[in-house]
Parts: sequence; structure tokens; C-alpha cells
Amino acid sequence: MSGIIYPTTNLKATESLTLERGDGVYVYDNNGKEYIEALAGLWCTSLGYNNRELIDTVNEQMGQLSYSHMFGGKTHQVGMDLADKLNAMVPVENAKVFFGNSGSDANDSHVKMLRYYFNAIGKPEKFKIIARERAYHGVTVAAASLTGLVPNHTHFDLPFDALGILRTDAPHYYRGALPGETEEQFVDRITNNLEQLILKEGADTIAAFIAEPITGASGVIVPPKGYYEKVQAILNKYDILFWADEVITGFGRTGNDFGSTTMNIQKPDMMTLAKQLSSAYMPISASVVRGDMYEAMIEPSAQVGVFGHGYTYSGHPVSCAVALKTLEIYERDNIFGHAAEMGRYMQRRLHEFADHPLVGEIRGEGLIAAVEFVANKQTGEAFAGGAIGGFAQQACQNHGMITRAVAGSSLAFCPPLIVTTEQIDEIIEKFSLALQDTLDYVTRENLQVA
Ligand SMILES: Cc1ncc(COP(=O)(O)O)c(C=O)c1O
Repeated sequence: MSGIIYPTTNLKATESLTLERGDGVYVYDNNGKEYIEALAGLWCTSLGYNNRELIDTVNEQMGQLSYSHMFGGKTHQVGMDLADKLNAMVPVENAKVFFGNSGSDANDSHVKMLRYYFNAIGKPEKFKIIARERAYHGVTVAAASLTGLVPNHTHFDLPFDALGILRTDAPHYYRGALPGETEEQFVDRITNNLEQLILKEGADTIAAFIAEPITGASGVIVPPKGYYEKVQAILNKYDILFWADEVITGFGRTGNDFGSTTMNIQKPDMMTLAKQLSSAYMPISASVVRGDMYEAMIEPSAQVGVFGHGYTYSGHPVSCAVALKTLEIYERDNIFGHAAEMGRYMQRRLHEFADHPLVGEIRGEGLIAAVEFVANKQTGEAFAGGAIGGFAQQACQNHGMITRAVAGSSLAFCPPLIVTTEQIDEIIEKFSLALQDTLDYVTRENLQVA
């Protein structure tokens, strides 16, 4: 083992794969073995590897101005252009954007800006945030507290109580429905739970509700029809902001510009963007807020002398330049339209596995999907311990495909948006082989529940 403390890794495990280079939707390890990247890295390499235009953009900007900060209003054209471009794209009213380096720090910035805003408008007690079970919003202290996954809390003493995070249901019908409950009844029940939570806590203590329009790390949960309409009606009734964490779903992933569009979320008040914002060529994130929220923060910052929040790399010019070029390519090459078409094909092909004895649910939208394995197909009983996902992930890797086990027993698919039908066929073929290996393993170990 090297001296690295590996992120999101069992520290007892050894190093698992050494990658050397990438090209298009493929990556290659240090033995020259080729893998199709069926998870776009970590849901982020939308335009694939070795994109000449993006590389040239990075090189040119490096030569022009390799670094400049934005403290004290110091700025550069490429940063201002990126903000203009984003503001024109997002469904947030009169959007203003704060730049950061990752989805996690962007969510932390939002938590702080919420407090700043509500203090500014004379409602300091309105700071709690409703997040959902199984949500993933990152790993910095505030973001990890918003996250609703056990491994991100255990041994870290999280969630951090002072943040006032409230928890509501995950909108996962397959796992969360009561016996005999229809989708509509499920939505009614969990949105009623949300309203009861608000009434119990007091609406005047709650600032915002945060949601990934479609989740990623928690197993690609696509909420049932009508869910967000009901959630937004409740939030509007109690004057609680809607905060869309679009770190995965932003920029074409679900077949539209944003997951909010796909899921019929109306005018979110805040949005978190990262990952595909730069096709992961350079780290960059954006915390987007409504224009009037920004306006309210101006006077208090003047009183203090400064809006006391900012990172060394907020608005890094190389990151801004490559993000701007990425957005230009999305538009010029109709990447979102292509993703929608490829998404329909990928979802259709994945559904061919519906009758497989290990497959409980196949879900997704656009170019993001998950297949959930179950110990009992009839009852949906999950495998104990959730190790099956890890086995299937390794089996895929053995067959030359990189994917990711999520939520224990689900395997996620999220290829670069430039993927072709032939490459989706290759993903399906490799998944089919890995699925057979997984079934052999389950049979051998007698893991299925009759
Ligand atoms: C929805 C969502 N929010 C936030 C994050 C955190 O982003 P980062 O890993 O860049 O900090 C992620 C990462 O996967 C995510 O999926």
C-alpha cells in the first residue's frame, strides 16, 4: 500500500486498480487492459476522456492566467462569462452563483448562505434543513450531516446537531411502500409525513428542503409521479425553500438540462452544481441562489466589511475556462438530446434483465440507472449485508467494465453522455456476463432465500 488514505474505501482492503490513461468512454490500467467506463468516473466525465478541445482549453488558460482568486471582487472574464452562461441556463430566478471546488463544499456554502440570508431578513430562527433518508450530499461536515447514509455518519459523530438537520422519507416506492400500497398512496403517505414533520418542528424554524431530483449514491431512486408536485405544494404553503442538489443530475444526465426539468420541479430556489459542469476536467462547483436572496445579503456584508466566505480556488480561472467550454460543447453538439436518445436505449436494454432471478428492480431516467439485486424475487427480500453489489461490481471489472455498487445490492450505470448505441450494447453484454457470475456465486454460496 502507498501512503494514501484512500477516500470512501475499506481501509483494510488493498489497492484495487491502477489506471493509466483514458480515451473516449474507455480507460486503461497499468497492464494495458481496457475497461468501458459505465459510471463516467464518479458520475462526472460527461464528455469522456482525452477530449482535445477541453485539453486545449486547459492548456491555453494555464498559459494565459493559471491562477487568480476572487476575494475583494477581483475577477476575470472567463469567470464572469461562466456565471452569465450558468445564470441563463438554470431555472432559478435571477440566479447568482458562488463558485467552489466540489459538490460537498458547494453544499456547505449553501448551508452558510441560508443562515446569512435568514439572518439578513430578520428570521434567525429559520435555519433547519429537511433532508431525506438515504440522501447523498457529500462529506464535508455540513454536507455529510445532510447525507442520510450510515457509513458517512458512523465514527464521525455526525450529523452535527447544531446544524438542525431534519430527516424525512426517501421516495423509494419499491423499498418503502407498505404491503398493498399503490404509488399514489405511497406518495400521499410520505408527503403527509413531511407536512407533519414541518408542523411538529414549526415552519418558522425551517429554512429549506434539499433533494437530489434523482438520487445517485443511494441507489438511483426515481420518485413516483406526482411526488415533487406534492412536496413543492407543501413547501410553498409553509414558506420553505426548495434546494435542488443537481451535482449528478445537472447537465443532461437525465436527458434534459437539469434533473429538475425531468422531474417537473418548478423553479427551485437554490441549486448545487458540480461534476458534469466541467466534465470533470478540472474541479469546480457552483452554489446557485435566487437573486433576491443574494440582494438581501449585500447590506449585512457591508456592515461587517466583507461577505466572510470564500475559497482560495473559488472561481479558479482554469476551472472556469474548461467549464465554459464544456457548456459550449453541450450546446453546440446537442449533447443533452443525444443523452436523451441514448438514455431511452440504455433503459430499454437494461429492462431486458427484468425476468432474471436476481433482479428485483430496474430503475432510472436518461443515462442514469440502477439494477437492484434481491435474495427473493417474489418478496423483494434484500441480501443480508449487501455484499452482492460488491461482488457484481468486481465481476464487471473482471469483464472489462467499470461500474459501481450502490446502496449495498444495486449496481449503477451512468456512462459518459457521449456513449453510442454500440457502446451501450457492450455495457449490456458485459453486465450479462457479470450477472451470470453473480448468480453462480449466489447459487454456490446458497444465498438466495426461497
Ligand atoms: C448529489 C450529490 N451531491 C453532492 C456530492 C458531493 O460532491 P463531491 O464529491 O464533489 O464533494 C455528490 C457526489 O457524488 C452527489 O452525488
